Amino acid sequence: MDFQGKHFLSTRELTLDSLAAVFRVADLLAPVAQGRATTRVLEGAVLGSLFFEASTRTRLSFEAAFQRLGGAIVNTTGFTFSSIAKGESIYDTARVVAGYVDTVVMRHPEERAIHEFAEATHIPVINGGNGAGEHPTQALLDIYTIEKEFARIGRPVNGARIALVGDLKYGRTVHSLIHILSLYQDLTLSLVSPEPLRMPAELVEHARSRGHTVEEHDEVARGVAKADLIYATRVQKERFAEGELSADYAPDFQISLGILNAHGLPHTVVMHPLPRDSRPGANDLAQDLNTDPRLAIFRQTDNGVPVRMALFALTLGVADGIEKTFQPARWWRPERIGPDDAEFYRPGKAGA
Ligand code: NCD
Repeated sequence: MDFQGKHFLSTRELTLDSLAAVFRVADLLAPVAQGRATTRVLEGAVLGSLFFEASTRTRLSFEAAFQRLGGAIVNTTGFTFSSIAKGESIYDTARVVAGYVDTVVMRHPEERAIHEFAEATHIPVINGGNGAGEHPTQALLDIYTIEKEFARIGRPVNGARIALVGDLKYGRTVHSLIHILSLYQDLTLSLVSPEPLRMPAELVEHARSRGHTVEEHDEVARGVAKADLIYATRVQKERFAEGELSADYAPDFQISLGILNAHGLPHTVVMHPLPRDSRPGANDLAQDLNTDPRLAIFRQTDNGVPVRMALFALTLGVADGIEKTFQPARWWRPERIGPDDAEFYRPGKAGA
Protein backbone atom coordinates (compact mmCIF):
# COMPACT_ATOMS: atom_id res chain seq x y z
CA MET A 1 0.00 0.00 0.00
CA ASP A 2 0.98 3.59 -0.55
CA PHE A 3 0.65 5.40 2.78
CA GLN A 4 0.33 9.03 1.73
CA GLY A 5 -3.07 10.46 2.63
CA LYS A 6 -4.38 7.01 3.64
CA HIS A 7 -5.91 5.72 6.84
CA PHE A 8 -3.97 2.92 8.56
CA LEU A 9 -6.57 0.75 10.25
CA SER A 10 -5.43 -2.81 9.67
CA THR A 11 -2.37 -4.83 8.68
CA ARG A 12 -4.53 -6.61 6.07
CA GLU A 13 -3.67 -3.82 3.64
CA LEU A 14 0.10 -4.27 3.89
CA THR A 15 2.49 -5.81 1.38
CA LEU A 16 6.17 -6.72 1.75
CA ASP A 17 6.99 -3.59 -0.30
CA SER A 18 5.04 -1.32 2.03
CA LEU A 19 6.80 -2.92 5.03
CA ALA A 20 10.15 -2.27 3.37
CA ALA A 21 9.19 1.40 2.88
CA VAL A 22 8.38 1.76 6.59
CA PHE A 23 11.61 0.01 7.63
CA ARG A 24 13.71 2.23 5.35
CA VAL A 25 12.28 5.45 6.78
CA ALA A 26 12.38 4.09 10.37
CA ASP A 27 16.10 3.25 9.94
CA LEU A 28 16.76 6.79 8.70
CA LEU A 29 14.84 8.29 11.60
CA ALA A 30 16.48 6.18 14.33
CA PRO A 31 18.96 8.96 15.35
CA VAL A 32 16.03 11.38 15.77
CA ALA A 33 13.99 8.81 17.70
CA GLN A 34 16.99 8.25 19.98
CA GLY A 35 17.46 11.96 20.68
CA ARG A 36 20.79 12.20 18.84
CA ALA A 37 19.51 14.37 15.97
CA THR A 38 16.55 16.67 15.34
CA THR A 39 14.28 17.46 12.40
CA ARG A 40 11.37 19.86 11.98
CA VAL A 41 9.66 18.36 8.91
CA LEU A 42 6.28 18.40 10.67
CA GLU A 43 6.65 21.88 12.15
CA GLY A 44 3.16 23.43 12.22
CA ALA A 45 1.35 20.09 11.87
CA VAL A 46 -0.99 18.95 14.64
CA LEU A 47 -1.80 15.38 15.74
CA GLY A 48 -5.10 14.56 17.43
CA SER A 49 -4.39 11.84 19.99
CA LEU A 50 -7.64 10.24 21.15
CA PHE A 51 -7.28 7.40 23.63
CA PHE A 52 -10.56 6.09 25.00
CA GLU A 53 -8.91 3.05 26.56
CA ALA A 54 -5.92 2.52 28.87
CA SER A 55 -2.54 3.09 27.26
CA THR A 56 0.98 4.04 28.26
CA ARG A 57 3.44 3.05 25.57
CA THR A 58 1.23 3.37 22.52
CA ARG A 59 0.00 6.88 23.34
CA LEU A 60 3.33 8.18 24.57
CA SER A 61 5.33 6.70 21.71
CA PHE A 62 2.91 8.12 19.12
CA GLU A 63 3.08 11.52 20.80
CA ALA A 64 6.88 11.41 21.19
CA ALA A 65 7.18 10.35 17.52
CA PHE A 66 5.06 13.26 16.28
CA GLN A 67 6.86 15.79 18.47
CA ARG A 68 10.30 14.52 17.45
CA LEU A 69 9.28 15.30 13.86
CA GLY A 70 8.54 18.88 14.96
CA GLY A 71 4.74 18.55 15.20
CA ALA A 72 2.37 19.47 18.02
CA ILE A 73 -0.33 17.44 19.77
CA VAL A 74 -3.84 17.93 21.06
CA ASN A 75 -5.27 15.05 23.00
CA THR A 76 -8.07 13.56 25.03
CA THR A 77 -8.00 10.43 27.18
CA GLY A 78 -10.90 8.38 28.52
CA PHE A 79 -14.61 9.01 28.06
CA THR A 80 -15.16 11.08 31.19
CA PHE A 81 -13.74 14.29 29.75
CA SER A 82 -14.97 13.78 26.20
CA SER A 83 -18.27 14.81 24.62
CA ILE A 84 -18.94 11.12 23.92
CA ALA A 85 -20.06 11.13 27.59
CA LYS A 86 -22.82 13.56 26.46
CA GLY A 87 -24.04 11.14 23.82
CA GLU A 88 -22.08 12.45 20.82
CA SER A 89 -21.65 9.96 17.96
CA ILE A 90 -18.23 8.80 16.81
CA TYR A 91 -19.00 10.33 13.41
CA ASP A 92 -19.61 13.78 14.87
CA THR A 93 -16.56 13.60 17.13
CA ALA A 94 -14.43 12.51 14.18
CA ARG A 95 -15.63 15.26 11.84
CA VAL A 96 -15.11 17.91 14.51
CA VAL A 97 -11.61 16.77 15.52
CA ALA A 98 -10.60 16.38 11.86
CA GLY A 99 -11.24 20.09 11.41
CA TYR A 100 -8.66 20.89 14.07
CA VAL A 101 -5.75 18.61 13.19
CA ASP A 102 -3.79 17.04 10.31
CA THR A 103 -3.89 13.40 11.40
CA VAL A 104 -5.47 11.40 14.20
CA VAL A 105 -4.51 8.34 16.19
CA MET A 106 -7.39 6.75 18.07
CA ARG A 107 -7.74 3.83 20.52
CA HIS A 108 -11.26 2.70 21.36
CA PRO A 109 -12.65 -0.35 23.21
CA GLU A 110 -15.20 -1.11 20.46
CA GLU A 111 -13.91 -2.77 17.31
CA ARG A 112 -16.07 -0.86 14.86
CA ALA A 113 -15.48 2.64 16.28
CA ILE A 114 -12.24 3.22 14.37
CA HIS A 115 -14.01 2.45 11.09
CA GLU A 116 -16.86 4.87 11.86
CA PHE A 117 -14.29 7.46 12.78
CA ALA A 118 -12.27 6.99 9.58
CA GLU A 119 -15.41 7.19 7.41
CA ALA A 120 -16.08 10.69 8.72
CA THR A 121 -12.88 12.26 7.43
CA HIS A 122 -10.27 12.40 4.69
CA ILE A 123 -7.43 13.24 7.08
CA PRO A 124 -5.31 10.13 7.78
CA VAL A 125 -6.61 8.13 10.75
CA ILE A 126 -4.36 5.59 12.49
CA ASN A 127 -5.74 2.73 14.55
CA GLY A 128 -4.07 2.72 17.99
CA GLY A 129 -6.00 -0.42 19.03
CA ASN A 130 -9.69 -1.24 18.44
CA GLY A 131 -11.06 -3.51 21.14
CA ALA A 132 -10.08 -7.13 20.54
CA GLY A 133 -9.72 -6.35 16.82
CA GLU A 134 -6.32 -5.09 15.73
CA HIS A 135 -3.30 -3.10 16.80
CA PRO A 136 -1.59 -2.52 13.47
CA THR A 137 1.21 -0.18 14.56
CA GLN A 138 2.22 -2.62 17.31
CA ALA A 139 2.54 -5.31 14.65
CA LEU A 140 4.63 -2.95 12.48
CA LEU A 141 7.09 -2.36 15.31
CA ASP A 142 7.01 -6.08 16.12
CA ILE A 143 8.00 -7.13 12.61
CA TYR A 144 10.63 -4.36 12.47
CA THR A 145 12.04 -5.82 15.71
CA ILE A 146 11.82 -9.41 14.44
CA GLU A 147 13.74 -8.46 11.27
CA LYS A 148 16.45 -6.74 13.33
CA GLU A 149 16.77 -9.50 15.94
CA PHE A 150 16.87 -12.22 13.31
CA ALA A 151 19.43 -10.29 11.22
CA ARG A 152 21.65 -10.12 14.29
CA ILE A 153 21.54 -13.86 14.84
CA GLY A 154 21.96 -14.45 11.12
CA ARG A 155 18.66 -16.10 10.28
CA PRO A 156 15.99 -15.06 7.79
CA VAL A 157 12.35 -14.64 8.76
CA ASN A 158 11.30 -16.92 5.91
CA GLY A 159 11.28 -20.51 7.14
CA ALA A 160 11.27 -19.55 10.84
CA ARG A 161 9.36 -21.28 13.60
CA ILE A 162 7.37 -18.69 15.54
CA ALA A 163 5.37 -19.37 18.71
CA LEU A 164 2.56 -16.96 19.60
CA VAL A 165 1.67 -17.65 23.23
CA GLY A 166 -1.13 -16.62 25.60
CA ASP A 167 -4.48 -15.00 24.86
CA LEU A 168 -4.75 -15.34 21.09
CA LYS A 169 -8.50 -14.71 21.08
CA TYR A 170 -8.66 -11.26 22.64
CA GLY A 171 -5.04 -10.20 22.12
CA ARG A 172 -5.31 -7.75 19.25
CA THR A 173 -1.54 -7.48 18.73
CA VAL A 174 -1.31 -11.11 17.56
CA HIS A 175 -4.26 -10.59 15.19
CA SER A 176 -2.38 -7.81 13.43
CA LEU A 177 0.92 -9.70 13.60
CA ILE A 178 -0.37 -12.91 12.02
CA HIS A 179 -1.46 -10.96 8.91
CA ILE A 180 2.02 -9.50 8.57
CA LEU A 181 3.75 -12.83 9.22
CA SER A 182 1.55 -14.37 6.53
CA LEU A 183 3.29 -12.12 3.97
CA TYR A 184 6.52 -14.10 4.50
CA GLN A 185 7.24 -17.64 3.28
CA ASP A 186 7.25 -21.13 4.79
CA LEU A 187 6.71 -20.18 8.40
CA THR A 188 5.72 -22.65 11.07
CA LEU A 189 3.33 -20.79 13.34
CA SER A 190 2.84 -22.47 16.68
CA LEU A 191 -0.28 -21.02 18.31
CA VAL A 192 -0.11 -21.75 22.02
CA SER A 193 -3.12 -20.86 24.11
CA PRO A 194 -5.65 -22.31 26.51
CA GLU A 195 -8.55 -23.83 24.59
CA PRO A 196 -11.03 -20.97 25.27
CA LEU A 197 -8.54 -18.35 24.09
CA ARG A 198 -7.57 -19.77 20.69
CA MET A 199 -6.73 -17.64 17.67
CA PRO A 200 -9.88 -16.85 15.63
CA ALA A 201 -10.35 -19.55 12.97
CA GLU A 202 -10.49 -17.00 10.16
CA LEU A 203 -6.93 -15.83 10.97
CA VAL A 204 -5.64 -19.41 11.20
CA GLU A 205 -7.18 -20.12 7.80
CA HIS A 206 -5.65 -16.98 6.33
CA ALA A 207 -2.14 -18.07 7.38
CA ARG A 208 -2.72 -21.59 6.03
CA SER A 209 -4.03 -20.24 2.74
CA ARG A 210 -0.72 -18.40 2.35
CA GLY A 211 1.13 -21.73 2.58
CA HIS A 212 2.28 -21.60 6.21
CA THR A 213 2.16 -24.53 8.61
CA VAL A 214 -0.06 -23.67 11.56
CA GLU A 215 -0.05 -25.82 14.70
CA GLU A 216 -2.32 -25.24 17.67
CA HIS A 217 -1.17 -26.27 21.16
CA ASP A 218 -2.77 -25.97 24.58
CA GLU A 219 0.43 -26.34 26.58
CA VAL A 220 3.60 -24.29 26.52
CA ALA A 221 6.13 -27.17 26.51
CA ARG A 222 5.16 -28.64 23.13
CA GLY A 223 4.28 -25.28 21.65
CA VAL A 224 7.63 -23.56 22.17
CA ALA A 225 9.87 -26.48 21.21
CA LYS A 226 12.48 -25.41 18.60
CA ALA A 227 11.01 -21.91 18.34
CA ASP A 228 13.17 -19.18 16.78
CA LEU A 229 10.85 -16.59 18.32
CA ILE A 230 8.47 -16.73 21.26
CA TYR A 231 5.93 -13.89 21.31
CA ALA A 232 4.23 -13.92 24.73
CA THR A 233 1.00 -12.05 25.48
CA ARG A 234 -1.10 -11.11 28.50
CA VAL A 235 -4.50 -12.67 29.21
CA GLN A 236 -6.91 -9.83 28.30
CA LYS A 237 -9.29 -10.35 31.23
CA GLU A 238 -10.87 -6.95 30.67
CA ARG A 239 -12.32 -8.27 27.39
CA PHE A 240 -13.95 -11.44 28.73
CA ALA A 241 -17.64 -11.47 27.88
CA GLU A 242 -20.12 -11.67 30.75
CA GLY A 243 -20.20 -15.29 32.03
CA GLU A 244 -17.68 -16.48 29.40
CA LEU A 245 -14.77 -17.06 31.74
CA SER A 246 -14.34 -15.94 35.31
CA ALA A 247 -12.54 -12.63 35.70
CA ASP A 248 -9.73 -14.35 37.58
CA TYR A 249 -9.15 -16.94 34.84
CA ALA A 250 -5.38 -16.95 34.55
CA PRO A 251 -3.88 -20.09 33.06
CA ASP A 252 -0.15 -20.45 33.49
CA PHE A 253 1.41 -19.80 30.11
CA GLN A 254 4.39 -18.03 31.57
CA ILE A 255 7.57 -17.77 29.53
CA SER A 256 10.60 -17.84 31.83
CA LEU A 257 14.28 -18.67 31.95
CA GLY A 258 13.27 -22.12 33.18
CA ILE A 259 11.14 -22.72 30.06
CA LEU A 260 13.94 -21.59 27.72
CA ASN A 261 16.48 -23.78 29.52
CA ALA A 262 14.19 -26.80 29.79
CA HIS A 263 13.53 -26.74 26.05
CA GLY A 264 17.10 -25.95 25.00
CA LEU A 265 16.39 -22.65 23.30
CA PRO A 266 19.77 -20.87 23.30
CA HIS A 267 19.05 -18.67 20.28
CA THR A 268 15.37 -17.96 20.76
CA VAL A 269 14.23 -14.32 20.65
CA VAL A 270 11.59 -13.50 23.29
CA MET A 271 9.12 -10.68 22.69
CA HIS A 272 5.94 -9.35 24.34
CA PRO A 273 3.86 -6.30 23.34
CA LEU A 274 3.77 -5.22 27.01
CA PRO A 275 2.48 -4.41 29.54
CA ARG A 276 3.42 -7.71 31.19
CA ASP A 277 1.66 -8.44 34.42
CA SER A 278 4.37 -8.22 37.11
CA ARG A 279 2.14 -8.88 40.12
CA PRO A 280 2.62 -12.04 42.21
CA GLY A 281 0.98 -14.99 40.48
CA ALA A 282 1.21 -13.32 37.06
CA ASN A 283 1.61 -15.68 34.18
CA ASP A 284 2.71 -14.12 30.92
CA LEU A 285 6.43 -13.31 31.08
CA ALA A 286 8.70 -13.80 34.09
CA GLN A 287 11.16 -11.19 35.37
CA ASP A 288 14.02 -13.70 35.42
CA LEU A 289 14.87 -13.06 31.77
CA ASN A 290 15.36 -9.32 32.36
CA THR A 291 19.12 -9.24 31.77
CA ASP A 292 19.11 -12.12 29.28
CA PRO A 293 20.12 -11.02 25.76
CA ARG A 294 17.36 -13.15 24.26
CA LEU A 295 14.75 -10.88 25.81
CA ALA A 296 13.99 -8.20 23.21
CA ILE A 297 11.06 -6.43 24.94
CA PHE A 298 12.78 -3.11 25.53
CA ARG A 299 14.44 -3.07 22.12
CA GLN A 300 10.88 -3.69 20.90
CA THR A 301 9.43 -0.66 22.77
CA ASP A 302 12.38 1.50 21.72
CA ASN A 303 11.66 0.55 18.10
CA GLY A 304 8.09 1.85 18.45
CA VAL A 305 9.21 5.45 18.15
CA PRO A 306 11.11 5.32 14.80
CA VAL A 307 8.42 3.06 13.34
CA ARG A 308 5.61 5.46 14.31
CA MET A 309 7.69 8.40 13.08
CA ALA A 310 8.10 6.61 9.74
CA LEU A 311 4.36 6.05 9.51
CA PHE A 312 3.64 9.75 10.12
CA ALA A 313 6.35 10.81 7.65
CA LEU A 314 4.89 8.51 4.98
CA THR A 315 1.20 9.28 5.54
CA LEU A 316 1.86 13.02 5.62
CA GLY A 317 4.21 12.88 2.62
CA VAL A 318 7.42 14.24 4.17
CA ALA A 319 9.61 11.11 4.06
CA ASP A 320 11.60 11.96 0.92
CA GLY A 321 14.93 13.61 1.64
CA ILE A 322 14.18 13.64 5.36
CA GLU A 323 17.79 12.93 6.37
CA LYS A 324 18.92 16.21 4.74
CA THR A 325 16.87 18.08 7.35
CA PHE A 326 18.69 16.55 10.34
CA GLN A 327 20.58 18.71 12.84
CA PRO A 328 22.69 17.29 15.65
CA ALA A 329 20.88 17.28 19.01
CA ARG A 330 22.43 19.62 21.59
CA TRP A 331 21.42 17.93 24.80
CA TRP A 332 23.05 15.18 26.87
CA ARG A 333 21.95 11.56 26.49
CA PRO A 334 23.34 8.48 28.29
CA GLU A 335 25.08 5.75 26.30
CA ARG A 336 22.58 3.12 27.44
CA ILE A 337 18.97 3.91 28.28
CA GLY A 338 18.35 1.31 31.00
CA PRO A 339 20.75 -0.05 33.65
CA ASP A 340 19.66 -3.64 32.96
CA ASP A 341 19.64 -3.41 29.17
CA ALA A 342 21.19 -6.63 27.98
CA GLU A 343 23.79 -6.53 25.27
CA PHE A 344 22.25 -7.34 21.94
CA TYR A 345 22.32 -11.04 21.39
CA ARG A 346 24.94 -12.28 18.96
CA PRO A 347 25.73 -15.94 18.43
CA GLY A 348 28.91 -16.99 20.16
CA LYS A 349 28.73 -14.27 22.82
CA ALA A 350 28.25 -14.88 26.54
CA GLY A 351 24.69 -15.95 27.21
CA ALA A 352 24.41 -17.45 23.73
C1 NCD B 1 -1.27 -4.17 24.09
C2 NCD B 1 -2.65 -3.64 23.75
O1 NCD B 1 -3.06 -2.60 24.25
O2 NCD B 1 -3.25 -4.28 22.91
N1 NCD B 1 -0.42 -3.21 24.60
C3 NCD B 1 0.24 -2.36 23.75
O3 NCD B 1 -0.35 -1.49 23.16
N2 NCD B 1 1.54 -2.57 23.55
C4 NCD B 1 -1.27 -5.47 24.79
C5 NCD B 1 -1.97 -5.63 26.12
O4 NCD B 1 -2.64 -4.74 26.63
O5 NCD B 1 -1.83 -6.73 26.67
